This record gives sequence, C-alpha cells and structure tokens, in this order.
Amino acid sequence: MKVELVCDHSCLLGEGPVWNGREKKICWVDILNGEIHEYDVVQKKRNTISVRQMVGAIAPEKNGHYVAALQHGLGFINRQTAEVEMIADPEADVLGNRFNDGKCDPAGRFWAGTMPLSEDSPAGNVYSMDDHFSIQKKISGVTVSNGMAWSLDRHTLYYIDSPSQEVVSYTYDEVTGNISDKKRIIEIFKEEGSPDGMTIDGEGMLWIAHWGGWKLSRWDPDAGKKIDELIMPVSKVTSCTFGGDHGDDLYVTSARVELTEKELEKQPLAGSLFVIRNSGFSGMSCFEFAGGSPWSAPDKK
Ligand code: BGC
Ligand code: CA
Repeated sequence: MKVELVCDHSCLLGEGPVWNGREKKICWVDILNGEIHEYDVVQKKRNTISVRQMVGAIAPEKNGHYVAALQHGLGFINRQTAEVEMIADPEADVLGNRFNDGKCDPAGRFWAGTMPLSEDSPAGNVYSMDDHFSIQKKISGVTVSNGMAWSLDRHTLYYIDSPSQEVVSYTYDEVTGNISDKKRIIEIFKEEGSPDGMTIDGEGMLWIAHWGGWKLSRWDPDAGKKIDELIMPVSKVTSCTFGGDHGDDLYVTSARVELTEKELEKQPLAGSLFVIRNSGFSGMSCFEFAGGSPWSAPDKK
C-alpha cells in the first residue's frame, strides 16, 4: 500500500479526519492551533477555518456546517464565516480540561470526550448530545478520551482512553443512546505506541492509529486479533477515516507536537495528512448530527 501526502501543510496536532462526499473534501482539525482544514480533492485546494479556541473534533450537521467539540464546550461552527455558536459546556466548572476526539452515533447524537490538558489524571468524561441539545455524561474517569466507532450492526460502541492502552466495547442501544456491559477487547503494547483515533471498515474491522508507534493497525474486534499493520512515515499517527468516491481511500492524520528538531529530521512530514488510495478496504461515510445549526447551507464554493 502506497502512503501519499495529501497536501503541503503540516499541523501541530492534526486529528479527526471527516470525508465530505457531497463536496469531495477531506476535512480535519489541528487541535492546538484551533484550525479546521478542508481540502478539495478535485480542485486540489485547501481552505482553513480559524476557530480561535482549541478544536478537538468536528462532525457534519444537517445544514452543512459543523458541530464541534471545543476547548470551552460543544458548539456549531459556520463553515463560511468561521462564526462559533456555543451550545453548552458540560464542564464549565472544570478548569484545565478540554474536549478531544468526538463523532456522531448512528442515531445522529454527537459524542465527544474531554481530557485534562496535563494528560495525567482521569479527570475526563465522555458526553453525548442529542438533536434537542440535551447532554448526557456517558463515561467518566477517562484520562485522554480518544477514538470511537460503532459496529456495523449498530449494537456496539468501541472506545479508546489512550493511556489505558486498550480498546473497550460497550453494548449500545441506538434508540436510547444507553451503553452498558463494558469489555476490554484489545490491548496495545506500550512499545507500539498508544491507541489514539479509530475507524471501522466495511468488514467491521477496526483501524487504530498508534500515537508514538509509527503505524495503523487493523483488528478483528470479536476475536481481539490483529490482522494487519500499515507502517507510516511519522511517529505520531493520530486518526484515520475512509473517503473518496468509492470509500476506499484511507486518510490518516498525524502530529508534530513535542517532537525535537532531531526527531523532525527523521520524520519531516510529521503533522501532515496522508492518503492510501484504493486501499483495498472501504468504509462508510460518517454519521451526521441530527440537530441543526442556526445557519442555512453554505454556498457552493
Ligand atoms: C490528544 C493529545 C495526546 C494524544 C495521545 C491526542 O488525541 O489530543 O493531546 O497527547 O492523543 O494520547
Ligand atoms: Ca486523538
């Protein structure tokens, strides 16, 4: 499999890739720089939206803008004006936490987790927000809330709290959004980095990004077995998603934060977005947030 650079831009902490099939754009965030990048794969042009606070994750909402997990809570981001409309901050009283990874579930709720900026205590939580903006705490006591994916039959949530070095599963109820029966299904050895972002492919297999591990790995979640590995040219591999016309282009984000100059000499592409075209695997497009932003659809650019 050939790993290609998507465009000539490097993030400090690139994360959360989302494929926009309607506009043929791959979108991702630079959490620490508070930026959203949208790259048009047809016109080969990148657009940047500056959010002016850290942005942990974005998901499409039904009017074509974004719902986002931000430094100071959950909000909408207008793709045209970069206006941020905060919805709620379930941790307004917790200084030192920010939102990190997030995604919509099959029913269109937006799920996102928090983490202490210090990354050294289980002060984070995972929340879900439904289309009426009602927010529920789903998981507590997490340190660096990260990857999420739902099984193809929509009965299981897979979840990663990075320092735990594991992937856990929960029985998930699409109608109520309830999760129960936590099970540890995958362990990642420290020598291989820590598990970060995650996606699921059309065969129900999980693709896990290895932060500090120079790779992605592909797992059968039922058997708890690793099936494949894909070596990357950078150490801090952060997340991945499938996109492209046939859903078989695998996009991979990365980071360069806290790499020394010497380390950067060995991985000059750290922070870039990569793609493996015609990967031989495919995934479905991500779920959209069922709640609507106050704005009408953005004009076609
Ligand atoms: C977080 C980083 C963290 C990394 C590894 C990322 O999702 O945004 O702050 O260092 O995961 O745990
Ligand atoms: Ca992450």
